[in-house]
Amino acid sequence: MISLKEPFWEKIWERISREGYPRPKPIVQFVDFYNKNYKDKEASFLDIGCGHGGNTHFIVEMGNKVVAVDISTRAINKLRSILTENKHKNVEAIVANIFELDFQAETFDCIIDNCSLQAYPLELVIEFIKKSKKWLKPDGRWYVKTAAEPYSMTFDMGAPVRISTQEDIGKMFEGFTGRVEPHLSCAIGPNGREFCNYFVGDLQVSGNNN
Ligand SMILES: C[S@@+](CC[C@H](N)C(=O)[O-])C[C@H]1O[C@@H](n2cnc3c(N)ncnc32)[C@H](O)[C@@H]1O
Repeated sequence: MISLKEPFWEKIWERISREGYPRPKPIVQFVDFYNKNYKDKEASFLDIGCGHGGNTHFIVEMGNKVVAVDISTRAINKLRSILTENKHKNVEAIVANIFELDFQAETFDCIIDNCSLQAYPLELVIEFIKKSKKWLKPDGRWYVKTAAEPYSMTFDMGAPVRISTQEDIGKMFEGFTGRVEPHLSCAIGPNGREFCNYFVGDLQVSGNNN
C-alpha cells in the first residue's frame, strides 16, 4: 500500500496534466445513482478523492452543493479553474488527506467515493466509513465504486488497488442498508480497451447513525 507521506498522487496528477487533462465527466453508475435518489431535490454532497471533479461538476450543474476533497494540489487547482470558467460557486474545493478530515455531525446528504478508497487497507477504510457516517444526515447515503474480483486492469492510474470481496463490503458498510452490485466497467488505456469488475453501492444510513 502507498505511503501518505510520499507525494504519490501528486506525481500521478503531474503525469495526467502533462498528457492533457481529460474532460471531466461523471461516472455512468454515479449518474444512475443520482437520478434515482436526488433528481428532484437539492442536496449537499461530499466527494472524497474527487480528482479534477468529473462527478463534482455534474453534481453542481444539477443545482447542488459539494465539498470536494483531494490530496493532490494539482487536481484541486484544475477543479477550481474549471469551476471558475463555468462560474460555479457552490463547491468548496479542499486539498486534504481524507483520513485526517472531520466535519460536523449531519452535514451531508450524500458521500461519494469513486475509486479512491480502493488504494487503502481495508481496516483504514472501515474506520473511515464508520467516522464518516456521523457526517451524514439521518437519511443520508453513501455512493461507492470500488475494485472487485477478478480485477485485471493493467494500466489504471498507476495507483495500487485493493480488491474487495462481498465480505469486505459487508464490513465496510456495517450498519447501512441498501444495495451493492457487481459491475463490469470498460476503460480505454494505452493497450486499448480493458474490462474490470467493480462493486457499486447505494447505501443508506439506517436508524441511529452514531
Ligand atoms: C482513481 S482517482 C479517482 C478520481 C475521481 N474520484 C474520479 O472518479 O474521477 C483517486 C483520487 O483519489 C485521490 N486520493 C487518493 N488518496 C487520497 C486521500 N488520502 N485523500 C484525498 N484524496 C485522495 C487521488 O489524488 C485521486 O485524485
